[in-house]
Formats: sequence, C-alpha cells, structure tokens
Amino acid sequence: MKNVLFILGTRPEAIKLAPLIKVFKQDKGFITKVCVTAQHRQMLDQVMDFFRIKPDYDLELMKPNQGILQFMANAILKLEPVFDEFKPDVVFVQGDTTTVLAGSLVAFHKTARIAHIEAGLRSHNKLSPFPEEINRIITSHLSSWHFAPTQIAIDNLKKEGITENVYLVGNTVIDALKMGIAEVTAHEKEFLSYFPSIDFSKRIMLVTCHRRESFGAPFVQICEALLHLAEEYKDIEIVYPVHLNPNIKEVAHKLLIHNNIKLISPLEYPQLIWLMNKSFIVLTDSGGIQEEAPSLGKPVLVMRDVTERMEGVVAGTAKLVGTDKQRIIDECSKLLEDKKAYAEMANAVNPYGDGTTSLQILGKVKEALN
Ligand code: UD1
Ligand code: UDP
Repeated sequence: MKNVLFILGTRPEAIKLAPLIKVFKQDKGFITKVCVTAQHRQMLDQVMDFFRIKPDYDLELMKPNQGILQFMANAILKLEPVFDEFKPDVVFVQGDTTTVLAGSLVAFHKTARIAHIEAGLRSHNKLSPFPEEINRIITSHLSSWHFAPTQIAIDNLKKEGITENVYLVGNTVIDALKMGIAEVTAHEKEFLSYFPSIDFSKRIMLVTCHRRESFGAPFVQICEALLHLAEEYKDIEIVYPVHLNPNIKEVAHKLLIHNNIKLISPLEYPQLIWLMNKSFIVLTDSGGIQEEAPSLGKPVLVMRDVTERMEGVVAGTAKLVGTDKQRIIDECSKLLEDKKAYAEMANAVNPYGDGTTSLQILGKVKEALN
C-alpha cells in the first residue's frame, strides 16, 4: 500500500484534480488523502462540494487580498506537519499556482515523489503569467513524474533537459468537462432557472478575467472595451462572473455599469460550463476556459499577450487579443459581424484531451511503482 497525498488550493486545481482523486480513491492499492491549503476559500469549496470530495486536511490559509509571499511562507509551515503525520510516498500537484510551488518544495524536502499534473506548460516569459511561469518551471525540476497534456508541453520539458518519466496523457480538465457537460445538458430547464436576469434570446458573450499582470491599467482597458461593445451591439448580453480577487472585483463593479452587462458572482462549475455551452463568444484570460471552450466549439478571444496554450490558437478556435481596448473591440466586432470569420473559429476540436487522462495517469503511476 502506498500513501498518496493530493495538495491543492484554488478553483482550477480542484476541477482538474477531482477526476483523478476519484480514480485513486477507488483503487485499493493506495491510501489516498486530500490536503487543501485553501488558497481560495469560497471558489474552492464550491468545486469540492460539486465533486463530493471532503478534504482530510484543511490548512485554512486564505486571507482577504492575500500577499502571495506571505501565503507561500504560511503554506510551507503548515504543510510540514501534514507530511510528518501522513508520510506520503507520492504527492500530486496540478498546474502552477503558489500552492503547487509550496507543496512541491515541501514534498521534495520530505523525499516524497512528486507527480506533476499538467506539466510542461510554458509561455517563455517570466513575467507573464506572473508568478505562475516560474512556479511551474521550478515544480518541473522538483518532480519525479511529469504528466504532460500535449506534445508542445513535452517539447518544452525536453528543452529544459527533462526527458525521463514524461508521459503524454492529455489534460484532466477534459475528463471533468465530459462528466459535467453530459449532466448539465440533460437538465436544460433547471439551468435556465439559475440565470433569471439573463436574456438568452440575445447572443451571449461570456467574460472572465483574473490574471495578476492585468491588474490596474490593462484591466481598465478591458472594462472600457466591454462598455463600448455593450453600447454598440444591443443584441448581445455580456455575462461576466467576476473573480473574487478585490483587485478585479472592486474595479469591475465600479466601472461596468450597463444594461447589457451582467456582473454575477463566480459560478459553480456546472453552471459555468452550461453557460459556456450557450455562449456565442468567450472572452477570457483563464487557462482552464481556454482549454474547455475548443471542446465545445466556442471561439475564444484570449486577453493576454502570450499564452502557454497555443494548441487552441493553432487549431484556429482561439486568438490572442491582448489587453488593448481597441484590439479587443475590433476582434469582438469581427466575430459579431462577420459570419465567415465566426464560422472559421467555431469548430469543435479536442487538442487538450479525450476524457481518459485520469485513468491513464493511474495506470502510469501503478506501472512506475511496480
Ligand atoms: C490564483 C493563482 C492563479 C490561478 C487563480 C485561479 C497564484 C499566484 N495565483 O490567483 O494562478 O489562475 O488562482 O482562480 O497562485 N478570494 C476570495 N475567495 C476565494 C478566492 C479568492 O475572497 O474563494 C480573494 C481573496 O481576497 C484572495 C484574493 O482573492 O486574497 C486572491 O486570491 P489568490 O489565490 O491570492 O490569487 P488569484 O488571483 O485567485
Ligand atoms: N470556472 C467556474 N466558475 C466561474 C469561472 C470559471 O467554475 O465562474 C471554472 C472554469 O470552467 C475552469 C476553471 O474554473 O475549469 C478555471 O479557473 P480560473 O479561470 O479561475 O483559473 P485558471 O484556469 O486561469 O488558472
């Protein structure tokens, strides 16, 4: 029997690890425990509740508008006793958040083997996403197993000299999406009733934004672009579930006052994927949403200058539009007015996985431990 510890802290980590936690918990060869740092609180708990995962350890570390270094220091201090008690042989971390870096550093010092999920993503820009690009580079160099979603990710690892125990398995985000979308599309009326304020006879533009490098002036430009689009196109409904980070939330609620803009609280995961499936365009800086939208055939305009997820761009369903007000207006207008341009982007493709990633990872870990 091997002891396996999943360490996670934010909403996307919970979504992407939930399918994997489920397959490990069902396997009798492992004692599987879950530790949440609670880098996020409400946004994490929503997902944990939906997937019915109860943490074995909850470090309760979120503070309002937390300093990321202080969070990291606290996470390291509070993770050590968890390792001393449970003595994990294998530690799973996912992605590139501060929870991932803190978890990996402690796991390395405690000589547990680290399995890194969604390994090898790189923007090749230390400052964007900040600080995630550096978090994931360091994590790769601490990890024993690298579960890469795509060939581009494998090539990135190779350039850093990481060629052993690298596995091409797709992204668990698609496992979760496949499970979720089957469930939500079967309950159309129920899901419609969650959005009483939204006019679904209009074309829906789903917006999300939270990256640290967009705080301040870039986010103001994004808001100004949204206001312009809302005024120009009366047949669209801009629906924006606002991230709880005060650097975003306070500005969004101050600037985005318009009849055609619906600011709502962060959505529970099933509501979000249902709404994405109903959307005409997705405008986002989210990593996970960039991966989900191509599977649903939704054009994604990515409000970033670089992305580590070029597969959607190469497949033609995603486009990098940056955070410049006029560029966002132009690219959205093109999709809203030009049917041909829209049709070219609205193709369902699956560059990020086929829904079997969790089972593949379980198989590889078993093989490696035997
Ligand atoms: C973090 C990750 C980012 C990831 C994002 C997913 C880092 C450095 N950043 O960014 O990579 O893409 O999560 O959403 O690890 N808050 C709440 N309730 C919540 C969540 C957040 O109130 O449930 C507020 C708090 O004031 C908190 C702040 O948002 O201090 C920022 O949260 P934090 O985890 O530090 O950063 P994110 O911007 O969410
Ligand atoms: N998501 C959600 N509710 C929302 C917005 C996003 O459940 O209101 C989901 C989305 O489907 C995706 C994940 O959260 O799976 C992405 O999280 P986020 O954008 O916070 O982080 P990133 O992926 O950029 O790290």
